[in-house]
Order: sequence, then C-alpha cells, then structure tokens
Amino acid sequence: MKIFSIVGARPQFIKLAPLSEALSGQHQEYIVHTGQHYDYAMSEKIFEDLGIRKPDIHLEIGSGSQAAQTGKMMIALEEAMILQKPNLVIVFGDTNSTLAGAFAAAKLNIPILHIEAGLRSYNKSMPEEINRIATDHVSKYLFAPTQTAMNILKAEGLKEHSYLTGDIMVDTIKNSLEIALKKPTIISALNIEDKKFNLLTLHRNYNVDNPAILKHLLMELGRLEEKIIFPVHPRTKKMLKDNAIAIPQNIEITEPQGYLDFIVLEHYSNRIITDSGGIQKEAYILQKPCITLRSETEWVETVQEGWNLLVNPTDNMISSKILSFVTPVIQQDIFGKDVTSKMVKVINSI
Ligand code: UD1
Ligand code: UDP
Repeated sequence: MKIFSIVGARPQFIKLAPLSEALSGQHQEYIVHTGQHYDYAMSEKIFEDLGIRKPDIHLEIGSGSQAAQTGKMMIALEEAMILQKPNLVIVFGDTNSTLAGAFAAAKLNIPILHIEAGLRSYNKSMPEEINRIATDHVSKYLFAPTQTAMNILKAEGLKEHSYLTGDIMVDTIKNSLEIALKKPTIISALNIEDKKFNLLTLHRNYNVDNPAILKHLLMELGRLEEKIIFPVHPRTKKMLKDNAIAIPQNIEITEPQGYLDFIVLEHYSNRIITDSGGIQKEAYILQKPCITLRSETEWVETVQEGWNLLVNPTDNMISSKILSFVTPVIQQDIFGKDVTSKMVKVINSI
C-alpha cells in the first residue's frame, strides 16, 4: 500500500518512530511533516534521537491561529494527496495536523487510520478535544490506546473498525530507554542527582496563555522549595518573556530537551509535574508519581490507579498537595505491550 503518515508536532514524531520503522519494507510509506513544529529542538532533534528518516514531504506550514494553521495544512495536504494518491492516511493524536490530515483525506474518500482514537477530556475549550472527536468520526480504522478509549468509541457508535491496540508510546520508550540511559550526560550537565529533583513541563493553552494563571502556577511551584527542572515549550517561553514573569529560585529553566535526554530526566526524577498528555503516560510507564496540573485528563486509568494526581491549576496549596501525594506499590498494565506489531497486523489486513 501507499501510506501517508501525517505528523507535525513533537508528540507525533514520538508516536511515528516505531510504526514507521515497522512499515518500512512492507509498504510504501511517505512521512508527511506539516511543519506545525519547526524549532530544531521541537522537530529535527526528535527525528535524530529516534532515528526517523527525514520527512518525504515537508509542508513547512508553521504557526498560526487555529483556523489559519489548520486551513493552510488542509490545502497543502490535499495537493499532496491528489498528486501521490495514497491508499491509506495515518494520523496521530489530536493536534491541528491530525485534524487537517483527516479532513483532507476524508473529502478525497481516502481511508483514514487514527492512532490514539477514543480519547476524551469532555472539555471543549481544548482545541485538541475538537480535533479528536472530529477525527474519530471521519476515520475508518480506529486504534484505541486503552480500554476506556475503546469503551468511548463503542458508546459513540464507532465500534466497527475499532481495535484495542494499546499505546504506541510504550514501544517508543521501550526501544529508547536503554540507549538513553547509557548516555546520561544531561544529569551532570544540569548538576542534578538521582531522585533529588522534580521535572516540570507546561504548554496547555489554559495554563500558559493566561499570564495570571502561569504566574500563579510558578509561584505555587516556587513554594515547593525542592529543585525543579523545567524544559520550556516555545509557547510557554513566549508567554514568560512577553509578560516578564519571574522564575522562582528553585526552578531551573532549560530549552526543550531531545527525546533521549528527556526520558533520562524522567527516569532520574523524583516526581513529574506536567500538563502534557504524553508525559502523564511516560510517568506511569516509568513508575514515577505524576502531578497533572489540569482539572481533567484523558488518561483516567492513571488517576484511578493512584499514580497520577489531578490538581486544578487555579487552586491554592498546590505545593502541599504535591508533597503529600503518595503512589501505590503495584501497577496494572494500562497501555499494553507489543503495540506496534498489533497495529501492523491490522494494517496488513486492510
Ligand atoms: C500543539 C498541539 C498540542 C500538543 C502540543 C505538543 C494543537 C492545537 N496543539 O500545541 O495538542 O500537545 O503541540 O507540544 O495542535 N512555537 C515555536 N516553535 C515551534 C512550535 C511552536 O516557537 O517549533 C510557538 C509559536 O509561537 C506558536 C506556539 O508555540 O504559535 C504554539 O504552537 P502550536 O503548534 O500552535 O501549539 P502547541 O502549543 O505547540
Ligand atoms: N518531550 C521531549 N522533550 C521535552 C519535553 C517533552 O522530548 O523537553 C517528549 C516527551 O518525552 C513525550 C512528548 O515529548 O514523549 C510529549 O509531548 P508534548 O508534551 O509536547 O505534547 P502532548 O503529549 O501533551 O501532546
């Protein structure tokens, strides 16, 4: 088959890596990069760390408002699809690149396969929630990462062609952790020690686009007093700079890390504080306490099992909530295993 794998944002490269490797040799796969993320640290570095070949088609769309960015992507993707005539379009997750790929393909009647289908936060102020719902409902093949996601697909009448494959990020981290831990230079470079620091990331619109909330979060995390390493997403960097927000002394900001350095930081951290979807999963896989600075999550099982604590970003006393959070000793297997091979088996049967 001729397959378009459409990616554009950092977490999508991470989901693409094991699948692209498995598809090569079996199918004619085109890696199509929309250019949603374009900084070296957000894009090329992740490709390099994961050994993903350079994109076959790079659309270089860049940043923009929701509709402008999605619209430009759709126009360029439609052109590429008309030219190359793929038999299958694979989209990942819930970004604007996901929606643009799905909508461009749907209007051309090209079958769409959605990886990470069935996630819902039930919070429509997130652009991602709109992207996911719309993508699921125009896709032909839905790969659910968890049983909850599978149940949601069934409840929305999408049972046919839904497959419980597990989460492909399990395979990415499994393939990379040993290699990453052989070169833990980031630990000495940042002068930190095993389990003596927290790892922080923030990039959700409702946490960083409102300077009052961003300030409040950093002030609360300053009260934690423990060391916090904070690789800053470019969206957040811009807000910190434009609003001259002061960084508390215990928080050390860095550039976005490469994937290998980032999973080393996760591995050696004491706990992880985040609003990222992917990082909540990695915290669980690495058995790290995770504090999610959101009032809801798509990864409900991690909360139900006691490994993830949801903290409303506007709450006071965030630091004491973080300090008193204790995780259980055991874990179930929420995200599955051998996910890529399960996915490829289904793809080969199409
Ligand atoms: C996007 C996704 C989000 C995902 C996140 C992963 C949507 C709606 N959101 O959010 O679901 O969790 O990626 O990181 O698709 N910027 C740069 N350099 C870059 C990329 C972005 O400077 O390489 C800055 C620009 O100012 C841009 C802003 O970050 O306007 C936001 O980027 P955008 O891709 O629109 O959204 P993210 O917040 O990255
Ligand atoms: N990540 C990374 N460097 C960083 C921060 C995150 O490589 O500095 C990786 C992380 O390991 C995870 C993914 O990026 O696999 C999560 O992406 P992000 O938080 O940008 O988006 P989300 O998952 O929330 O959509």
